[in-house]
Amino acid sequence: MKGIVVYDTSHGNTRAVAEAISETLRESGIEVGTFYVKDVKKLSAKDYDFLVLGSPTKFGTMSLAVKGFLGKVKGDEWANKPFAAFDTENPPNMEKKEWSAAEKIAAVLRDKKLSQSLPVLRVLVQDWKGPLLEGELERTKAYARELAGQLKK
Ligand SMILES: Cc1cc2nc3c(=O)[nH]c(=O)nc-3n(C[C@H](O)[C@H](O)[C@H](O)COP(=O)(O)O)c2cc1C
Repeated sequence: MKGIVVYDTSHGNTRAVAEAISETLRESGIEVGTFYVKDVKKLSAKDYDFLVLGSPTKFGTMSLAVKGFLGKVKGDEWANKPFAAFDTENPPNMEKKEWSAAEKIAAVLRDKKLSQSLPVLRVLVQDWKGPLLEGELERTKAYARELAGQLKK
């Protein structure tokens, strides 16, 4: 099984989450390629069995680069493949489900008929530059272990 983890970042927090997810999946024996969103020029579903996509939350939604990337995920090729979505955001944002980048990513991917493996992961960062709040990397790794379990089913 081989997957792709794609993230956007301005200050490195979302990259840290993406890398923690990738490392944890690898520790579970799953092959993963990890890419900064702007480095993915072409995306072929033939090359991957699942997709994990993450974005910083900006003005209550995903970044423009992640929105652009979603256009490369062709529903006819990716239908039924598993996916997971995550975001980084500030604590006061957490109560607002409609302001989550990850929920919006997940809605688009469900529309394209990909299969959502787990509820989205929303990771808390301090202010705009971070760092991640205490315990968030551990929570991310626990999420990735659960994801690995789902993917291996
Ligand atoms: C222009 C801008 C808009 C933002 N809007 C939100 C927001 O609506 N809700 C929120 O929780 N955080 C918001 N943030 C904080 C970002 O979520 C935070 O900077 C980001 O998660 C850091 O991740 P990164 O280091 O990967 O860029 C915003 C940050 C910027 C720079």
